[in-house]
Amino acid sequence: MQRKGALMFSGGAGCLLLVALAVSRPPANPHIDPAARLQAKIEVPSQVDRILRKACFDCHSSQTRWPWYSQLPPALWMVLRDVEKARSAMNFSDWPDPLGKANRASGLLLAVCAVLRAERMPPARYLALHPEARLSAAEVDTICSWSQTQAAHIASLRQK
Ligand code: HEC
Repeated sequence: MQRKGALMFSGGAGCLLLVALAVSRPPANPHIDPAARLQAKIEVPSQVDRILRKACFDCHSSQTRWPWYSQLPPALWMVLRDVEKARSAMNFSDWPDPLGKANRASGLLLAVCAVLRAERMPPARYLALHPEARLSAAEVDTICSWSQTQAAHIASLRQK
């Protein structure tokens, strides 16, 4: 009798889990306008592109590769919130225009270097599950020299 009860219980829990999994699929990524991408607005050398894709794009672009753990409801909610906040702070798939929104564009470029130097990004909770996103000192230098050059270039465009 007890065994039967336990079986029914685990069956019920299994059904709940299946329902939870079914309703908690990660969302589709938003549509990308190719002309709005960072790469369409400023020069992005291939090694910079590679680093940003590897370490930042899951949160700061509309090309999120939803990880396996985002299939599990509590983790999904956390990942969703993270991606939403990250995209609204900075989205490489929807980059401010270097002429029309020069301050915003150069401010973000400088912030990219600053958060890397301060080791604030990628967040530790992400690195724990994505060790390949940890950047070496050389990779940080590559990003910083690119972002500072581009920010200076944007400033020079304004003075013309
Ligand atoms: C796991 C998701 C995640 C990843 C991966 C990630 N970020 Fe972020 N990032 C966030 C979130 C969330 C915010 C907004 C809240 C905050 O500042 O913590 C943010 C904010 C930022 C900001 C704005 C900071 C400010 O002070 O306004 C910059 C710049 C940034 N990230 C750069 C990067 C760069 C560069 C990478 C890749 C090396 C990266 N992030 C990787 C989640 C992420």
